[in-house]
Amino acid sequence: MGDDLEKVLVTEEQIKARLRELAAEIDADYAGKDLLLVGVLKGAVMVMADLARELHHPAEMDWMAVSSYGAGTTSSGVVRILKDLDADLKDRHVLIVEDVIDSGLTLSWLVGNLRSRGPASVEVCTMVRKPLAFDVDLDVKYIGFDLPNEFIVGYGLDYAEKYRNLPFIGTLAPHVHA
Ligand code: IMP
Ligand code: MG
Repeated sequence: MGDDLEKVLVTEEQIKARLRELAAEIDADYAGKDLLLVGVLKGAVMVMADLARELHHPAEMDWMAVSSYGAGTTSSGVVRILKDLDADLKDRHVLIVEDVIDSGLTLSWLVGNLRSRGPASVEVCTMVRKPLAFDVDLDVKYIGFDLPNEFIVGYGLDYAEKYRNLPFIGTLAPHVHA
């Protein structure tokens, strides 16, 4: 995949170190509480797998798949559930685990949807936040990296379903987009 890449923004080592810090915060914040991690497929698979293994908390994991309709690659905020959770959220502490928050529209819909199910709390952990996310009223408690407004791939993030399996986060060479 090397020829397709432009630059590495976050290395494998940086991801691992940052996840360890976030896991320590999450362990402290949820000590003694029942915690359900909700991963958003497919992008959050890598961060969920690595974050969960850094936790000492006996957290449960569940998964949801959503699709946001919009023109081309931009998110519209109109979301459809492709796969719903197995777990009942009533009175549970829910932590949504995301790969990236770009416009934030998908996530703000998801937070609202999960809040309507009667959980004890809903918080968000994202590997990457991009600057557009500030335009949406969304409280993100755990953030891996704040990155500039560029299209990124790797560590779960795809371009046309590819590059998810890169162990780092980077940008694509212009010839790949074209
Ligand atoms: P939103 O704009 O915050 O609603 O983001 C919706 C979805 O778009 C994310 O969950 C990702 O799947 C995808 N996405 C946003 N930015 C990127 C990117 O830079 N690379 C790959 N996927 C992205
Ligand atoms: Mg996502």
